[in-house]
Amino acid sequence: MTLEGKRILLGLTGGVAAYKSAELARALVKAGCDVRAVLTESATRFVGAATLQALTGQTAWLDLWDPRVANQMAHIELSRDRDLIVIAPASADFLAKVANGLADDLLSTLVLARRCPLLVAPAMNVEMWSNPATRRNLLTLQDDGVSIAGPASGDQACGESGLGRMREPAELLDDIEAFFQPKLLAGKRVLVTAGPTEEPIDPVRVITNASSGKMGFAVARAAREAGAEVTLVTGPVSLAAPQGATRIDVRTAAEMFDAVKAAVAGCDVFVAVAAVSDYRVAHPAAQKVKRGAHRTWRLDLVENPDILAWVAKRPRAPFCVGFAAESEKLGEHARAKRRRKGIPLLAANLAQEALGADDNALTLFDDRGEHPLGRGPKIEQARKLIAHVAALMAAQGRRR
Ligand code: CTP
Repeated sequence: MTLEGKRILLGLTGGVAAYKSAELARALVKAGCDVRAVLTESATRFVGAATLQALTGQTAWLDLWDPRVANQMAHIELSRDRDLIVIAPASADFLAKVANGLADDLLSTLVLARRCPLLVAPAMNVEMWSNPATRRNLLTLQDDGVSIAGPASGDQACGESGLGRMREPAELLDDIEAFFQPKLLAGKRVLVTAGPTEEPIDPVRVITNASSGKMGFAVARAAREAGAEVTLVTGPVSLAAPQGATRIDVRTAAEMFDAVKAAVAGCDVFVAVAAVSDYRVAHPAAQKVKRGAHRTWRLDLVENPDILAWVAKRPRAPFCVGFAAESEKLGEHARAKRRRKGIPLLAANLAQEALGADDNALTLFDDRGEHPLGRGPKIEQARKLIAHVAALMAAQGRRR
C-alpha cells in the first residue's frame, strides 16, 4: 500500500525545523496525498502560509475563527475527512498542550477534537527534550496512542548538539508510509540476515559474494512496518538499518552463524536474505601475501555451515523463508532448494536482474505452487513477501 489518495492534515508549530516541513508537504503531495496545512501563530514566524499554500495547492489554515469554514467550526471540520494528522515540527510547548488536552488555538483544538490518528515529529533543543516535564509528556502521549517519529540527534540550530533535531523530510515520509501499513506481524519476532559475508584470505584480501544488502534491509523494514520486533544480522554493507530494528554487524559466515544462533530463540519468523559465502579459506594467512609469493596460488576452501538449513531443522523452528538468486532455470532451482532446505517459503529472482538495483521481480515458492510478485521497488516486494508470510502463518495456525 502506498500513500496514494491518503488525506493528511499537516500541522506546523513554532520551530526552525518548520522550513523542512515545506519539503515534507511537497513530498507528500508528490506521493499522491491530499495535504491540508494548518500553522500555529509561531510557525508563521519560520515559514509562510503562502509557501504551504503553494506547495499543497490548498488553503493553509491559521485561525480558529476563520469565517470561511461553515458555522465557524474550523476546529472540527478541518480534520473530519482526514486519515492522519501529522504535526511536524512538534515543539515542546505543543506536545505539552496535547499531552494535557489544552486547546487554545486552531491546531491544538483540531488535535483535541480529532477522530483520526496522530503522528508527531518532535523538534526542540536538547535540554528541552531531556527535561523531565517533556519526558512525562512523551510518556502520556505514547499511552494515549500517539505515534512519535524521532527526534534525531545532531547539531542544532541553537549551536548545541544532541537529541532534538526533527527527522529529515524523507525519513518522515517513510514514517508516514510505515504508519499506514497493516500490522500483520504485530507481537511477532522476526530475525533477518542480509548482505554478503567476507571470508579472509589474508589481512587485506577476502572472498565475498556480490550483494548490496538492499533486499534484506527492505525485508527488515517491511517487517518493522508490519509491527514486528526485528533483529537484523548483516554482513558488510553501507546501508542504514530501518528505524527501530536491532542491528548486529558481522563479517564472516561463521560470525553470522553465531549471531543467528544467539538471536533465534523465541523468534517467530526467520528470513535468510544474506548471500552467505558457501566456502571459507581453510588457513587464512596471518600476514599479507606478497606478489610473487606463488606462481600459481591455490586456496584450500572448506564448506561453511548452512545457516538457514540449521535454523529450519531446530525443534520449534521459526517460520523459515529462504532467498535464492539464480542465474538460470529459476523455477527448477528454486523448487529443489526449498525442498533441500526443508522450508515452507522461498523467494527467488534472477541475480542479473536484481543485483544492486532498487527494483526486483521476486517469485515466491510454497506448498501451493509459485506466485510471481511482478516487478517493483524492493520495499514493495518486501511488503508483499511479509503479507504472504503472515497469510501462511495464519493458515498454519488455523490448521493446528
Ligand atoms: N544460506 C544460509 N547459509 C549458507 C548459505 C545459504 O543461510 N551458508 C541461505 C541464504 O541466505 C538463502 C538460502 O540459504 O536464503 C539460499 O542460498 P543459496 O546460496 O542460493 O543456496 P545454496 O544452498 O548455497 O545453493 P547454491 O548451490 O545455489 O549455492
